[in-house]
Order: sequence, then C-alpha cells, then structure tokens
Amino acid sequence: MALLDRPRIETLAAVAGDDSRTAHSMPGWYYNDPAIFEQEKSSLFADGWVCAGHASEIASPGQYMAVKIGDEPVVVVRDRKGDVRAYSNVCRHRGMALVEGKGKAAVLTCPYHAWSYDLDGALRKAPYMEGVEGFDPAACALPEFALEEWRGFVFVNTGNNAPPLAPDLAALEPFVANYQIEERHSTETWFEEWGTNWKSLVENFMEGYHLSVTHATTLDPITPTELCEKLATGKGFTAYRSNYRDSSPQREPFPKDLTEQERRSSVLFSVYPNFVITVGPNCAVFLILLPETPETVNIKMGVLVQEGADELPETEAYINLAHEFNAEDRMMLEAIQKNSRSAHRPQSPLAPEALEGTIWDFTRHVARHLTGHAGGAVS
Ligand code: FES
Ligand SMILES: [Fe+2]
Repeated sequence: MALLDRPRIETLAAVAGDDSRTAHSMPGWYYNDPAIFEQEKSSLFADGWVCAGHASEIASPGQYMAVKIGDEPVVVVRDRKGDVRAYSNVCRHRGMALVEGKGKAAVLTCPYHAWSYDLDGALRKAPYMEGVEGFDPAACALPEFALEEWRGFVFVNTGNNAPPLAPDLAALEPFVANYQIEERHSTETWFEEWGTNWKSLVENFMEGYHLSVTHATTLDPITPTELCEKLATGKGFTAYRSNYRDSSPQREPFPKDLTEQERRSSVLFSVYPNFVITVGPNCAVFLILLPETPETVNIKMGVLVQEGADELPETEAYINLAHEFNAEDRMMLEAIQKNSRSAHRPQSPLAPEALEGTIWDFTRHVARHLTGHAGGAVS
C-alpha cells in the first residue's frame, strides 16, 4: 500500500488537531491521491459503519442488495426469519461474485460453478465436491459482517470492529425523529457513476452556500442559501437545515407530528463516511457513496416516501426535481475534480458556519481518521 508522505500527514494532523474552527478548503491531493484513497478504505470504510441501503429495499425474505464497501463485495439479504444480514459476496470456491444489484432468491447460487448458500450464509450445495480431500462444507460458510439498522437504514462494518453506531448519532435524533424516515419506504433506487472524489460529494451535499447559485432555477425558489442554518454535529455526523421560502407551496403529505418549522424546511445530514440525505416533509432523497477510485464514485441514489405516496404527482415531481439538482451538482463536482491538479488550487477560508461549517466538521473527521487520531471525544 502506498504511504502518505510527511507533508500530507502534517497537513492532515493540523486539521485533525485544530479546534479553532478556522475552516479552509483542502489541497488538490486530498481529492486525487491514491495513497489517501487507500488509507480511507481502511480507516474510514473497513473500520466504520458504511451505509448499504434502506431496509425497505429488501422488505421480504430472500431479497438482497449487493454493494462494494471499499475493496469488499457485500451482499445484504433478508433471511428466512426476517432479519437483515450482511455477508461476503465472494464465493468460497474461487471468488466469483454471488449476486449483483438487487434481486430475490431462495438460495444464493454462484453463477460460475453453482455452489449455493442458504440465507444464513451456510454452504448448501457444491456440485461434484463430495469426497474431495480437504473439502469441509462447514468451513465454507460466507463470512458475516456486523450490521446495525438506524432509522430504517442498514449500516455494515466489514471490519467487524466498530463500536455501536447509534450512540454516535444520539445528538442527531431530535432533528430527524418527527420525520419518521424509518416508516418510509424506498420508491426507486438507481446507480450513477460520477467523475469526482467521494468527499467532494459529501461536502457539496452538506453545504447550503451553493444552493442559490448552482441551483438558481431548481432549488433557490424553495431553499435559498440565505435561509440555511447549521444544526448539530457529533462524532458520527453533521447536519444543517434548509428553510423554505414563504412563497414555496407546502410539500405534502407529511407525518402529523411535524412541527411548523419541520413542515417548512428540509434537514440534511451526513452519517460518516458515505451517507448523505435530505429529509423533507414528504420525500427524502438519499445518496450512498461507494468510492471506486480516488476520482470516481459509484452512487446509489434513492427516494423515500410515506405509505401510499408512491403514485402521487407530488412524489413524481419531487423525483424529477432530484434528478435535476443532482445533474447540476454533478457538473460542478466533475469540473472541480479536473482542477484538482492545478498548481493554483487554493486553500482558502470556507464560508460562515451556517453555510459551510458542515464541510469543516466532515474534513476534521476524515483527517482524524487518516492520521489515527480518531479515538476519544472527536467529531
Ligand atoms: S467460484 Fe463460485 S462456484 Fe466456483
Ligand atoms: Fe447541490
């Protein structure tokens, strides 16, 4: 594995140890260096809780969804008892991927030589293998990964070494509880690959500074930059609220427990490292970031709605809006990625806390993990 050079470690250590909130943008190498990327895969993705999707995507036994977490292919499946479980998606014979995308199956059958696995991970059949010396079916179960569900979302820890996730998100709860995202279900999900570093996408999704400019005709009429406010941050997350203009029509339907302010705003939060979501009164759009290379990210996008809202015109309009504002973001992010090798790529102050404070929360989280200073009470 490539190692980080000393100047880079020092730059990251300065960010990790900086409590002054003198926030600044990061140098280009932070977004394109293969050594940084390798370190992220181990320190942030293998050792952390990585979102794989929403439990409603695999609502019935046998339904599965495949994701790649760092270098680790994972299949998340609902077993016969109705529990959600995560296994290695690497066949125990010679390493083929068992499944791709999403689907439903009574057993997971490898497409290469047809070894098959029960939904509890046990090897069920291995054609022609009976009597082969050294072959022990019991030793060929799929390795299982730690899994935690939080408000309907499925998080996987492939390193099987992370402390529980929920305590790190406790301070986020008051801001999201009334929206009842765990009661909503995923209407559709789709994958896109963007030519950007995955961290740029987290930063972009989590800052309100660009709303009125990048999204001048799509989001500014609803959630302009000037109405954004920072919410809480904690060890595992950062969050902000984008308030709606008075002139923007009420989004419906919404859960009855929403406060007046919650009806008139969206809460955007990131659960580190790879999950971002904007939760509105009626719909929520989530992005699950699955980095492929330092400069490409595979994104699973999805929309959550409430019971019975799938076919509503409001839902369709919101999904169309999501496609539009995502396309606008993509244009910006792919352009700044191309500039990441410029000798004049700046390290400039970030905008005020309400607008880009979330970026600094996330940057410090990344820096602390990359430099091994993530223990203790950090954000
Ligand atoms: S690699 Fe899966 S059965 Fe051979
Ligand atoms: Fe945006």
